[in-house]
Amino acid sequence: MASIGPDSMPERIAAYRARIETVLDGYLPPLERVPERLHAALRYSALGTGKRLRPILVYATGEALGVPLERLDAPAAAVELIHAYSLVHDDLPAMDNDDLRRGRPTCHRAFDEGTAILAGDALQVLAFRILAAEATRDGEIPAYTRMIHLLAEASGTDGMAGGQALDLAAVGQQLTVEALENIHRRKTGALIRASVLMAAMVASETDTRRLARLDRFAQDLGLAFQIQDDILDVEGDAATLGKATGADRAKDKPTYPSIAGMTAAKRRCRDLHAHAVAALADFGPGAEHLRWLADFVIERNS
Ligand code: IPE
Ligand code: IPE
Ligand code: MG
Ligand code: MG
Ligand code: MG
Repeated sequence: MASIGPDSMPERIAAYRARIETVLDGYLPPLERVPERLHAALRYSALGTGKRLRPILVYATGEALGVPLERLDAPAAAVELIHAYSLVHDDLPAMDNDDLRRGRPTCHRAFDEGTAILAGDALQVLAFRILAAEATRDGEIPAYTRMIHLLAEASGTDGMAGGQALDLAAVGQQLTVEALENIHRRKTGALIRASVLMAAMVASETDTRRLARLDRFAQDLGLAFQIQDDILDVEGDAATLGKATGADRAKDKPTYPSIAGMTAAKRRCRDLHAHAVAALADFGPGAEHLRWLADFVIERNS
């Protein structure tokens, strides 16, 4: 695949987005393979739409550290597949019970609940299979073993799955801002952090100060991303978002605006953005696309 030239930032991001679509298409099982209905559900849930923030972060971080894009495809695909699985399960009737995702019927609506559960299972293991296969092919077992470990932690009970459990338990509860931030950091922040740190692992970045700064950037960005998601549930437009608005209030979910108020939610996003960008101070012009992404996270309307 051709490398991305020195385009404008939106063009570069669009090129990352096009690249991950092709990469995912190549990794996903073909529609004709048995069981066809399950494979259709995987492709329906992982291809076609979505902002692709997590793979874009893998590419942008990797490029900031001088890694060729080809070496970033596997972690970029892996984290997007985990994310796609988390959305399929998040939308299930037993969880958020949503009908619309990425502008289309949710997986269990387009197929059925059993297929959606299995699609989530299969998307999740495909992510780890891709990383494991890459380790064998590349002869780079230590770096990929660390990536598998990091992605597993970010997906499991210390990360996304644990955050989702706390999110379900929080329905109808009065939470402190600290407790809500803990949920947000786990359910959403952990995978965003893993996106940045996996790219650093591909780069074999060992400077602990630079790693800590990237980690700070990623953690602040991840929390800001979920706070903005909560804000958009109140102020966003369903057609632009491709999912229902007002869903958090309808389900009595504690969110940043519902606990702290809308003004405080927006202020927290701006502060996290400022911290995130400050953490990149040492990285020079190579991190320009990471700064652009930080702006995108708090300014986005979709
Ligand atoms: C939605 O994630 C779920 C959250 C973690 C907030 P995104 O807003 O990244 O969803 P897509 O991938 O663009 O559809
Ligand atoms: C989802 O958070 C986080 C995940 C781990 C999928 P939300 O439930 O707020 O995400 P949306 O609003 O449905 O996209
Ligand atoms: Mg949810
Ligand atoms: Mg949801
Ligand atoms: Mg939400």
